[in-house]
Amino acid sequence: MAKAKYVLAVDQGTTGTHVSILDDKLRVVGSAYREFTQYFPKPSWVEHDLDEIWASVEYCIRQALKNAGLAGKDLSAVGITNQRETTGLWLRDGGKPLANAIVWQDRRTSEHCAKLREQGEEARVRKTTGLVLDPYFSGTKLSWMMEHVKGARKRAEKGDACFGTIDTWLVYKMTGGQAHVTDVSNASRTLLMDVSLLKWDEAMLSLFKVPSACLPQIRGSAEVYGTTKGMRGLPDGIPISGMAGDQQSALFGQACFTPGEAKCTYGTGAFLLMNTGEAPVYSSAGLLTTVAWRIGDKTAYALEGSSFIAGAAVQWLRDGLKVIKKAGDVEPLAASVKESGDVVFVPALAGLGAPHWRPEARGLFAGIDRSTTAAHLARAALEGVAMQINDLADAMRRDTGREIPAFKVDGGASANNLMMQFQADMLGTEVVRPQNLQTTSLGAAFLAGLGAGVWSGTDAIRRAWKVGKVFKPKMKAEVRERHLTKWRRAVERA
Ligand code: G3P
Repeated sequence: MAKAKYVLAVDQGTTGTHVSILDDKLRVVGSAYREFTQYFPKPSWVEHDLDEIWASVEYCIRQALKNAGLAGKDLSAVGITNQRETTGLWLRDGGKPLANAIVWQDRRTSEHCAKLREQGEEARVRKTTGLVLDPYFSGTKLSWMMEHVKGARKRAEKGDACFGTIDTWLVYKMTGGQAHVTDVSNASRTLLMDVSLLKWDEAMLSLFKVPSACLPQIRGSAEVYGTTKGMRGLPDGIPISGMAGDQQSALFGQACFTPGEAKCTYGTGAFLLMNTGEAPVYSSAGLLTTVAWRIGDKTAYALEGSSFIAGAAVQWLRDGLKVIKKAGDVEPLAASVKESGDVVFVPALAGLGAPHWRPEARGLFAGIDRSTTAAHLARAALEGVAMQINDLADAMRRDTGREIPAFKVDGGASANNLMMQFQADMLGTEVVRPQNLQTTSLGAAFLAGLGAGVWSGTDAIRRAWKVGKVFKPKMKAEVRERHLTKWRRAVERA
């Protein structure tokens, strides 16, 4: 009997690291998860410690292997998927981080973005990169590091410092410092890459004053970037052969291979992506043009609507407001009232992303009175997350002139039935949740397996995708209209 081939996927997310091991039928045979520290040194700043992230990855790999009853030598390939845009800088020799990584949610460069917009740079940036001038992306974060981290610019100019998003950091660490690479999907989130040519763009580098010597090499999403070297828990020589940003990886894991197919992932934030085919499609409704993946010589593009707060709203109810003890408590609490009353929540806890792009916006509870309870707040929070996605879906309909055929959902917070039902009600479209909500890991594992030759085509992933639950819209039109009106008013005030 042929030996089973196992692929390990690292999903390095904003609040935690998830590692899973899949067999060649794409069944999960072992997994592990670990949260790590979020640093909030100043209002609107968010940082991660790169070494702590790496420790969480090594820990989860060991645990996942243990849970699967496997040893490192049983693995055929490793795939990486990651929180995108988060910006790191470390010494090429030895990998010591020069500073904490600046997380995608961090708004410290709002003023820099505003200044560039005032200088009339927005149109040029959009055309070249497919993105907008917002602190969300890596470009201005890296500029900030060049100005504020001691010695950063000098070292970057000499090539002694490596810039990287989290994919780049992990592959650097996994290969013992041998590989300084990123994949096109991650590079397309930096504001530094030409989204059509898939190359670092000189004009963007000079706009953001980034020295090219610190940049990683841009590669495809399913190819061998290097092999493991000197890792705790894995032997040397395992190919690292798949890499994609987490939202693109989820699009892949949801088998959205045909133009028009879309998915929304409810993680820390929520991200709606639609496959738009082999050429970039530009948005006139505030969405982003991004690379979905590149396999061999074929590039797939996507339109993306990014909203920064989804699961993070539930975390905030738990850790900030302390109205729930654990994330899972939010659904029964919200369901304990029939409706949110007049309470509306705009989850602009990290500014507003697409389609509004208002980094200065802040969160808002509106319509509170003395009858408002924690249950109303919880319900309004879940509804607010879904309302943001509804705005994104509207923008996508306007941009593409077509309905989203099946609204596929995934990510931890998509397990929330109340929120998914409300989502379907607001969209007026069926929401389809697959059995396996870990589509991000599935995508990364599959890309790695493609890169290492475990699978030869995408059929296996289509076969592995199975419907879990379908939410049909059932809200009365006038109730829906009332929600939409309250929401629009509240967004203006946020
Ligand atoms: O763009 C940010 C995104 O990649 C973060 O994803 O799952 O950590 O919320 P997540």
